[in-house]
Amino acid sequence: MLSKGKFAQLTRAHFCPKDFGDVQWVQLPVHSPGGHPNLEQAMKKTDNPLDLFDFTCERLQATVADRLPDGVDPAAFCAETAYCICLAVTAQGESWETAFHKYVDTEVLERAGRDAESERRELDLLRIELAQARGPVLDVGAGWGRVAALYAQAELPVYYVETSVLGTRLMQRTGLKRIVAAQGEALPFLSGVFHTILIGWVLHHDAGDGNASRLLREAARVTAPGGLLLSVEPLDERFDRTKWTTLITQAGFSVCRIGAFYEYPRAKGSISSHALLVGTYLG
Ligand SMILES: C[S@@+](CC[C@H](N)C(=O)[O-])C[C@H]1O[C@@H](n2cnc3c(N)ncnc32)[C@H](O)[C@@H]1O
Repeated sequence: MLSKGKFAQLTRAHFCPKDFGDVQWVQLPVHSPGGHPNLEQAMKKTDNPLDLFDFTCERLQATVADRLPDGVDPAAFCAETAYCICLAVTAQGESWETAFHKYVDTEVLERAGRDAESERRELDLLRIELAQARGPVLDVGAGWGRVAALYAQAELPVYYVETSVLGTRLMQRTGLKRIVAAQGEALPFLSGVFHTILIGWVLHHDAGDGNASRLLREAARVTAPGGLLLSVEPLDERFDRTKWTTLITQAGFSVCRIGAFYEYPRAKGSISSHALLVGTYLG
């Protein structure tokens, strides 16, 4: 199977031949935005996700960037918020204007400070876990490659699985390698080839239709016995600790520990917490 060691790389032989035809190795031409479309054009340009993303970043820069609290990196804030807005447009069919106003509401500045602090704590924890982890790593629902710098620091080879075209193109544009456009529920890898799995901010989107469960079972299938699972999710009354741990254990992972790294009060007195779960695949 894999050569031993942290730097082990997967080769094409580690992909399931039967699924290989469906895998889109992302080697699409990188779109270089020339000029800037006006709002009307951008709203219609959902077929060109990078255009829409760049336009949305620009609008955010112009609207909120100079009002962000200390400690919030404007470029990171705009990129993360633009990604969420664009996914709402391209994946959920919202109009650009509706999505933009939903994210850029009166509470945006308060949320920005909170999210930045939460992310700092999250990345500090992940950095520690990844420093002891073994590769290759599979990042399922990798988004725009937010965690990429940590993998590089830990010198871990990583495969980025992402279902949205925007995410895969953004990762490609930033120069990341081994980007696989696929659904987490149907991973194009042979069984037991990954030693570390990271699933960040994906499972809580579960609409109750079994998606999260299928994704975790697939993640378990491609994990080597004894492999490490790192799962990060925001918990509240809709997606709580019990639901999370039940999904994880039913997929075949054991839960070693859960640490809440950020908590804040929500409406009606409830608390939302952002937490990291560290698990092991029992095999
Ligand atoms: C909130 S973003 C988090 C991105 C990244 N994990 C991070 O922590 O920054 C969730 C991502 O998961 C992706 N996603 C959701 N369901 C997925 C699935 N079934 N398979 C693969 N990716 C999925 C979305 O397209 C989106 O990019």
